[in-house]
Amino acid sequence: DGPAAVSPTGRPWGGDPATRSQDGAFLTTAGGVPLRDTDHSLKAGRRGPTLLQDHHLREKITHFDHERIPERVVHARGAAAHGRFESYGTAARLTCAQFLQPDVTTPVFVRFSTVVGSRGSADTVRDTRGFATKFYTAEGTFDLVGNNIPVFFIQDAIKFPDVVHAVKPHPDVEIPQAQSAHDTFWDFVSLHTEAQHHTIWNMSDRGIPRSYRTMEGFGVHTFRLVADDGTTSLVKFHWKPKLGVHSLTWEEAQLAAGTDPDFHRRDLALAIEHGAHPQWELGVQVFPDTEDQVFEGIDLLDPTKLVPEELAPVQPIGLLTLDRNPRNYFAETEQVAFHVGHLVRGIDVTDDPLLQGRLFSYLDTQLSRLGGPNFTQLPINRPHAPVNDMLRDGMHQTADHIGVAPYKPNTLDGGCPFHAGADLAFIDVPARVADGVKERAQPASYDDHFSQVRMFWRSLTPVEQAHTAQAYTFELGKCFEQAIKERQLQALAHVDAGLCATVAAGLGLPAPAPTVEVPDAAPSPTLSQVGERWPVD
Ligand code: HEM
Repeated sequence: DGPAAVSPTGRPWGGDPATRSQDGAFLTTAGGVPLRDTDHSLKAGRRGPTLLQDHHLREKITHFDHERIPERVVHARGAAAHGRFESYGTAARLTCAQFLQPDVTTPVFVRFSTVVGSRGSADTVRDTRGFATKFYTAEGTFDLVGNNIPVFFIQDAIKFPDVVHAVKPHPDVEIPQAQSAHDTFWDFVSLHTEAQHHTIWNMSDRGIPRSYRTMEGFGVHTFRLVADDGTTSLVKFHWKPKLGVHSLTWEEAQLAAGTDPDFHRRDLALAIEHGAHPQWELGVQVFPDTEDQVFEGIDLLDPTKLVPEELAPVQPIGLLTLDRNPRNYFAETEQVAFHVGHLVRGIDVTDDPLLQGRLFSYLDTQLSRLGGPNFTQLPINRPHAPVNDMLRDGMHQTADHIGVAPYKPNTLDGGCPFHAGADLAFIDVPARVADGVKERAQPASYDDHFSQVRMFWRSLTPVEQAHTAQAYTFELGKCFEQAIKERQLQALAHVDAGLCATVAAGLGLPAPAPTVEVPDAAPSPTLSQVGERWPVD
């Protein structure tokens, strides 16, 4: 019942801060006191000094001074959209997750991102892209926090700060594309050769997508699904764009970065605004949940390996449609908080050591990025399921908790069962933990760093191979240290002699011989066989 509960444009204002806009009948302070003037500070005489008592001046400037929050430590630059996920029901035999049952539609929020650049960097750089989806399911929030590349640089989360330090701008000049920054990247990936698989995807045309709308997405890790009867299976999640997979050429990417650094976010926003709603099918590769968690010789817990699709086809389980742009970039795209630990009943994690570390990292970083422990109360992060937790107080608490006994069991606040029934509660799969001693070590299966890099290289068409060799030559050409270039050439010698020779010639260096046996160029499983349904060209 304030002075004007509805603004001239019909929007409510002055009540819920989430809907506050600047088109009310008149301006007020944050405390709702109507104001006459916001252009002149209160002064002692027209030419006199400004008075400290001017609350409106102090409030306006203080709030402005605190408008920025820290950007994400990685994936800082992004663009997002709302949409819906329609389940085909085909995964219902594998999982009891409610949102994957037949005829269920779930609201979603998807944020695409680059990894390395800061919030104001260009969109069309050569980089991995984030593809993070928040499913607001009726049984709680599920986040699928993936990338547009199916493998990752490292096999153990403990190296994540190291790889990020190597790819971020150099600490002295903070120039992302400085000669020295190229040195640190190539230094890392040539010393940690497990990174070579992710790197070749970056050097291929996959590293410069045409549009967020034409990217695949991958959950990367192997997850575990649980069916109603308790049976489990291992899966890898895939997003397949209905528009197909398309990339820019390097020259197009360079031009776009100069003429329109917002190329990808503009493309996404305009497409949605004009009704060209982008769509992806969600699919799963399904593997038996065997004790060794190895499929066709591929260790499913090694995030630097993929499973070729002709060994395990991607089976469609639902359709994602993005149909609404965010109303406020800060409130939604910036404040959204994804977390691989946001799982729902019927989906569980595996022991992939990269995934295990991620389970710690996201909440930890968000505690400082979003200013304390209550960011799940922000509208964009709020579950669409009933919440009945015992988390209390803390900075930026907006809930008005009632009751006196935030602990269980208790005798004072009745009416709330201690446990959900087995048909409702999250299922921690009683998976067997490997026998062994505590040690800082990894299985021998993690030691093969090259066979899938070779498989990827051989799956490319001649044009794709030429682009990839040019990218290696260009990027390595920016390195200052000869020893780093030579070490990376040695890694390429283990991938393919032809690729190594081409890049070496481009750099004006001799091509080294491999120090391990490289199999002949037999026809490889074609990764671009995804093109049979979703053409690559
Ligand atoms: C952010 C994907 C590995 C730490 C993100 C985002 C994506 C992503 C998509 C952006 C989320 C958003 O849009 O807000 C991945 C994938 C990985 C991976 C696919 C490997 C398969 C890791 C690892 C760590 C890590 C190993 C740490 C141990 C972070 C952090 C953020 C982030 C700290 C910023 C989160 C925030 O501030 O909200 N990651 N990531 N990531 N990731 Fe990862």
